Amino acid sequence: MEVIVARTPKEVKEIIRDWKKQGYSIGLVPTMGYLHEGHGSLIERAVKENDKVMVSVFVNPIQFGPNEDLETYPRDFDADLQMIEKLGADMVFHPEPSDMYAPDFSTTISVAGVSENLCGARRPGHFNGVCTVVTKLFNLSEADRAYFGQKDAQQLAVVRRMVRDLNANIEIIGCPIIREDDGLAKSSRNTYLNPDERKAATVLSKALRTGKQMIESGEKNAEVVKSKITEIISKEPLAKIDYVEITDWNSIEPVDIIDRSTLCAIAVYIGNTRLIDNFIYEV
Ligand code: PAJ
Repeated sequence: MEVIVARTPKEVKEIIRDWKKQGYSIGLVPTMGYLHEGHGSLIERAVKENDKVMVSVFVNPIQFGPNEDLETYPRDFDADLQMIEKLGADMVFHPEPSDMYAPDFSTTISVAGVSENLCGARRPGHFNGVCTVVTKLFNLSEADRAYFGQKDAQQLAVVRRMVRDLNANIEIIGCPIIREDDGLAKSSRNTYLNPDERKAATVLSKALRTGKQMIESGEKNAEVVKSKITEIISKEPLAKIDYVEITDWNSIEPVDIIDRSTLCAIAVYIGNTRLIDNFIYEV
């Protein structure tokens, strides 16, 4: 079956009304496009678990800071469409910013606490932009389930908190990080890396693997684990650490002792490209 391309919220609503009338369950996969196998894993799972699947492809301007890469963020809608169709999704929502944000748009969703550390501290307003667009997509799709990658672990925690706090009628499904063969977490931004940087970028997953092994062999002192991760990354000349942090996986508050489910998250510049990666340690 050919995938339907909806360009406006109005078109989405018409299709959703029809699906709802027929009693279909609906899965939503929000993306910013330039899709890779990480996105693909979310779409595949959504297709398995729902009667109908809507994928959004929208580079959401309000989640980018003034000095970030909104203009240069990679885009290839034709390739995205092909991949989405092959994976068996039913609708792609690909709006223009002006279709999502009226000139007098004035509502923002903000989740305190959980969105304030890690990337929230470095990218002011980022999670407000994410929560606002995600809420719009939840409302438009009326989805039963929405799929998010653990690649953006804080985003997943923030969205979960928002859904709980606002009694949104949707189930949030977290999906594992998909990696390249050498360990680098797949990301649309990996395309910014030149060959030397691409090699250097493996230091993120290598450092995290060591950190995880330390915890699994009994090291519970967060500072010790963070120091080891920092030491490994610092040896890579092309890498510059933005943060190395260990937090409670629910609250995203830093922990001293790893005695509960924790998120170990890092952000590292490789050249000018900021990459993030993480692991979750479940007790
Ligand atoms: P984007 O970066 O395109 O990611 C869309 C979804 O794909 C997110 O849930 C992200 O965690 C997931 N994803 C990305 N790389 C992955 C990987 N290697 N393995 C598993 N999942 C991966 O995240 C966003 O877009 C935006 O903030 C969005 C939620 C769409 C709101 O604009």
